[in-house]
Formats: sequence, C-alpha cells, structure tokens
Amino acid sequence: MKAALSHKSNHKSNHKLQADKVILALDVDSFARAKYFVDKLCTRIKIFKVGLQIFTLCGPEIIKYIRKKKAEVFLDLKFYDIPNTVSNAVRQAVRLNVKMMTLHISGGREMLKRAQEAAKEEARFLKIERPLLIGVTVLTSQPSTAEEVLNLAKIGLDCGLDGVVCSAREVAFLKEKLDRKFIAITPGIRPPGSARDDQKRTMTAKEALAAGSDFIVVGRPILEAKDPVDAAERLIWDQVQNAVGTRSKMRLRSVPM
Ligand code: C5P
Repeated sequence: MKAALSHKSNHKSNHKLQADKVILALDVDSFARAKYFVDKLCTRIKIFKVGLQIFTLCGPEIIKYIRKKKAEVFLDLKFYDIPNTVSNAVRQAVRLNVKMMTLHISGGREMLKRAQEAAKEEARFLKIERPLLIGVTVLTSQPSTAEEVLNLAKIGLDCGLDGVVCSAREVAFLKEKLDRKFIAITPGIRPPGSARDDQKRTMTAKEALAAGSDFIVVGRPILEAKDPVDAAERLIWDQVQNAVGTRSKMRLRSVPM
C-alpha cells in the first residue's frame, strides 16, 4: 500500500493498485456526514480531499480522523498569500501529515519556492514523507486559454511543485507540451451519461485516465448516490480498472488496505 502511494511510484501510471487513483472530495456539511463517508469508503478509496467547506467546519480533526482510518488526505485549501504566510501554513499542513496539498500558482514564484522549501524542511525535521505540492493553474470557473494554463503549469513546476490540478481536457496537452514528469489531478469526473451538475467540461474516469490523469477527484457522483459504496465500486471497476485493465476484481478486493 505504502509503495503504491509513494512519490516515486505516482509517476508510473500503470503501477500497483489503480483504485488509489480515485480521490473522494468530502464536500459535505457536517462532521458526522464526513465521517460516514470515510467509514463507508475507506476500504475502497484511499485518498480523501479535504476542501474549504469541511476544513472550515471541522479543522484538523477531520484530517486526524481520516489518518486514523489509515487513509490519505489531499488538503485542497488552495493557498494564496504572501510568501511568509503561505510557507508557515505549509509547515502546519506538513505537521498534519497530509499526502498532498494545493496552492495557487498565480501566487508567484517566491511564494511557490518558499512553500516548497518549507515543506521539505519541515518533513525532514519530522522525518516524514514530504507532501506533494500541487499547483492550481486557472480555476475552471474562470475563462482561460490552454496557453495560459500551460504557462502557469510551467512556472509551478519550475518552482519545484510536484504537479497541477487541471481539467481532464487539458491533461493530454500539458503532458505533451511539458517535457518532464509531473502529477496531473483532475476533477470534473462524471460516470458515462450522468448529470454534469455545475461542471462545464466533464469526462468519465476512464477518459481522464486515458488522457494521462494520475488522480481523479470525484465528489457528487459518489456523495449523492443512493448507494455510495456501489457508486464508488462502479467507478473503480467499470472505469478505473477498465482504463488500465490489468487487475482482476478478485485481486483488487483482496488487496490489504
Ligand atoms: O462534485 P464534483 O465531482 O464536481 O466535485 C469536484 C471537486 O473538485 C470539488 O471539491 C471541487 O471544489 C474540486 N475542483 C473542481 N474544479 C477545479 C478544482 C477543484 O471541481 N478546477
């Protein structure tokens, strides 16, 4: 399990346990509801995204709860502030032992570099694995061009970030244009033929992974399903497993978490 989630192996797309590519966005309005989804799904989904809503509501307690359940945390607070403030906030996130976290690339080179140094230093001090620093290029709610996204991604990676959040429709373009390895995390995933909610440019999990996404973020298709476990399993089996087509159902079910 550890190996499947290590920084190095994240770069190899056909590695280990493909279910690890699914990140559940815990976009819910109570701690009880967040715990419900973590309890129900932590044997299937190994990374939970803690965003602004649930973090504002529960603070570090939700992170501690997820870690206690042996799952990983994607802290999606999209830091954007002066370099000193962001690097100090990054240190706190390292102390919470999150797997990955986001910051706005438009915060500038100094902010990004200081954040990266702080993460490294703090992780070394605590003797733990450094969280992956993931840059937000342009919010999908804002107008942008592919070139703009590409330029921001370049700046982020030049400053030592490990990857970027981007729409699945941008992944193939970025992977082709950026001549280096990086992690692409893509939200806006919908099962084939389902409602798109407020997401403008959706893709199925299978399409996103085929395009080069390393992780997919899924919220409402699982959170609002009548049976979230069934929805998660369908997504993992029908989409993620088929996208790589390497493991049998039996094998995945018996993988120790
Ligand atoms: O419910 P849904 O599957 O649309 O959730 C997607 C998640 O990904 C949400 O937590 C949302 O904030 C996040 N996200 C996004 N688009 C971005 C960045 C993050 O939808 N560009």
